[in-house]
This record gives sequence, C-alpha cells and structure tokens, in this order.
Amino acid sequence: EMAAALPCLIFAASLMLASIKSSTASRMAKPGCQETCGNLTIPYPFGIGEGCFREGFDVSCENNSVYRHNSSSRIKIYNISLLGGQARVTTLIASKCFNETGGWAWLNTGKFFTISTKANKLTAVGCNTLAFLGGFNEHRVGAGCFSMCADRRSVDESGQCSGMGCCQTSIAPNLNFSNVTFDDRFDNSEVSGFNPCSYAFVAEQDWFRFEASYLEDNKLKEKFKDGVPTLLDWVAGNEYCNEAVKNMSTYAWKKDAKVGNSLPSFGFTSSYLCIHLKLFLCS
Ligand SMILES: *[C@@H]1O[C@H](CO)[C@@H](O)[C@H](O)[C@H]1NC(C)=O
Ligand SMILES: *[C@@H]1O[C@H](CO)[C@@H](O)[C@H](O)[C@H]1NC(C)=O
Ligand SMILES: *[C@@H]1O[C@H](CO)[C@@H](O)[C@H](O)[C@H]1NC(C)=O
Ligand SMILES: *[C@@H]1O[C@H](CO)[C@@H](O)[C@H](O)[C@H]1NC(C)=O
Ligand SMILES: *[C@@H]1O[C@H](CO)[C@@H](O)[C@H](O)[C@H]1NC(C)=O
Ligand SMILES: *[C@@H]1O[C@H](CO)[C@@H](O)[C@H](O)[C@H]1NC(C)=O
Ligand SMILES: *[C@@H]1O[C@H](CO)[C@@H](O)[C@H](O)[C@H]1NC(C)=O
Ligand SMILES: *[C@@H]1O[C@H](CO)[C@@H](O)[C@H](O)[C@H]1NC(C)=O
Repeated sequence: EMAAALPCLIFAASLMLASIKSSTASRMAKPGCQETCGNLTIPYPFGIGEGCFREGFDVSCENNSVYRHNSSSRIKIYNISLLGGQARVTTLIASKCFNETGGWAWLNTGKFFTISTKANKLTAVGCNTLAFLGGFNEHRVGAGCFSMCADRRSVDESGQCSGMGCCQTSIAPNLNFSNVTFDDRFDNSEVSGFNPCSYAFVAEQDWFRFEASYLEDNKLKEKFKDGVPTLLDWVAGNEYCNEAVKNMSTYAWKKDAKVGNSLPSFGFTSSYLCIHLKLFLCS
C-alpha cells in the first residue's frame, strides 16, 4: 500500500548505478546529445533537442543557461539532482510598491515537476504585508502570511524571519501551479518612508536569510534580479515501485553494474524505498 503510493525514480536509480560503476567515464546525457550548458551537466532524462530527452524533460541552452523547455517558461535550471529527483530553479519575486496595486508572480511547473513542500516556504518581506499563495495539486489550495512593523525600530534585526518585516509559512505538497499575490487591503503607504515596497516569493527555506536592509528602496529585487532559488521535485515516468521492479528490461543503464555492500547515502526523498529495493535486486 505504502510502496505502491511512491512514484519510482527509475532513471535516478539506474543512473546512480551507472555512475558508481564508472567514476572515470560518466556520460550523463544520451549518446549523441549535448552534455553540458554553461557549468551544468545535463543528465538524461533531461536533454536538449529532439530525441535527447524523456517526455517533459526537454530543456534549452540559451546564453549558457539552462531553461525548462525554453526561456519563455521563465524556469531557469541551475542544479539537477538525479538521486534526489530534484532540480533547483530560479523563480520570480512578486512585488508591489506603495503607489501601485496588484503585483504577482506565478509558476507553472508542468507535468512531472512539483514544488517541494519540504524545502520551500512562502516568504514575504514588508511592513504592512499580507501575501498569499494560491495553487493547485489535486485540489485548489492556498497559504498566506502577514508581516507588520509600524516603524523602523519594529523591524527584526537578528536575521530571523519572525513577522517583524518578514514572514514565512509552509506550502501544500505536490503543487504544479502557484501564484503569489498580495492582499490590496494592506499596502506600504503608511511605512513608505522606510519600506516603500512589499515582496513575496516561494524559495528554499535554508537559503533565505532576512536582512532589515531588504525593506529599503528596491534592495531585495536588485539583489535577486535573476529570481530566487526554488527546489522542484520530479519523477521520470509514472511507473510505480512494484511495477518497475517487475520489469527489469526498464533498467537499460544498469546492465552489468556491480554495487558493493555500502549503499551511497543520499538525502531527501520519498523514493528511498524504491531505490533501495532496486539496488538490492540489481546488485
Ligand atoms: C558557473 O558556476 C559559478 C560558481 O558556481 C557561477 O558563479 C557562475 O555564474 C556559473 N556560470 C554560469 C554560466 O552559469
Ligand atoms: C541572451 O543574450 C542576448 C544578447 O545579450 C539577449 O538579447 C537575450 O535576451 C538573452 N536571452 C536570455 C534568455 O537571457
Ligand atoms: C518557446 O516555446 C514556445 C512553445 O513551444 C514557442 O512558441 C516559443 O517561440 C519559444 N520561444 C523561444 C524563445 O524559443
Ligand atoms: C547543487 O546541489 C548540491 C546538492 O544540494 C550542492 O552540493 C551543490 O553545491 C549545488 N550546486 C550549485 C551550483 O548550486
Ligand atoms: C512608485 O514609486 C517609486 C519610488 O518612488 C517609483 O520608482 C515608481 O516609478 C512609482 N511607481 C508608479 C507606478 O508610479
Ligand atoms: C497539475 O496537477 C493536476 C492534478 O494532478 C492535473 O490535473 C493538472 O493537469 C496538472 N497541471 C499541469 C500543468 O501539469
Ligand atoms: C495571479 O493572480 C493575480 C491576482 O489575483 C491575477 O490577476 C493573475 O491573473 C494570476 N495569474 C495567473 C497566471 O493565474
Ligand atoms: C517492460 O518495459 C519495456 C520497455 O519499457 C516494455 O516494452 C515492455 O512491454 C515491458 N514489459 C512488461 C511486462 O511490462
């Protein structure tokens, strides 16, 4: 029951075996396909160009940066973890200044990708700011947080995101769409002297450290003009554990791989059981 609910990272597992086998020649892309873009190695199932990727994992290489599909997706990928089944991307910051209304930033992860609920938080920065995240998994879901500071002295200077200039809240699991917005009943007009704008984004919790200076002018957006890091989970294919292990021909890459007694330790994930099981079967 439990195992059946875990999507299986078949490629993650088999590529891990492949790289254990040959730490010397580790080809990650499909043969004949572009292997790197800028600093990033692009491992299959990701790939550039026809025949080089698995459905849903096509990326482009533009100005030495990797984008999901192409740059119009606005999802720039700068780290891919095969073992964890995760990809680190940049996403945009929603902002709204005292003399403006609206302000929002959306993210459509597309098929096979979801926003990691464990790694990311909805974060808002501002002194009279109510930020919302609206999104979809199998349901329509939402989250929100409120931050208040009547004057400069009420801002948390300790780097904590505590509600005094910054707030954070958890987001629902398995979101493949999110839209970060502000409640227009709250704005920065009363605090515009030291905090003209509000900001909100979905980003890795461990990455973000609040600084009081982010409240000034447009400091936060200037510092993170390429966006903020967000961790996405992905699964290559919709196969489930118990089905995948039945069909050994799926393991094209693991052919004649030998795994020693020590299992490599890898962080994260719901795919643990599945990968272990397969290592066991394949060794
Ligand atoms: C390459 O990696 C370095 C260090 O991680 C980074 O500063 C640089 O911007 C990267 N270059 C590209 C083209 O992504
Ligand atoms: C790539 O660089 C060109 C020239 O600098 C620029 O016009 C274009 O917008 C850039 N594309 C992306 C996706 O950054
Ligand atoms: C990105 O992909 C879309 C949809 O396939 C296409 O319409 C658009 O022209 C592409 N943009 C670039 C910059 O290649
Ligand atoms: C990619 O992610 C790994 C694991 O989280 C980390 O060790 C590495 O520093 C990251 N690289 C970049 C360029 O962010
Ligand atoms: C709002 O005010 C800021 C700073 O005073 C200014 O840069 C911006 O252009 C203004 N926006 C609008 C829509 O007037
Ligand atoms: C997001 O997930 C829901 C539920 O699984 C699905 O119905 C919807 O088509 C997905 N959206 C995209 C863009 O993949
Ligand atoms: C995000 O929310 C704003 C405000 O409700 C709305 O105007 C906008 O259309 C939404 N964007 C998307 C892509 O749904
Ligand atoms: C096993 O996987 C291969 C390749 O994906 C497929 O062609 C074959 O039909 C599968 N066999 C079973 C019994 O599911």
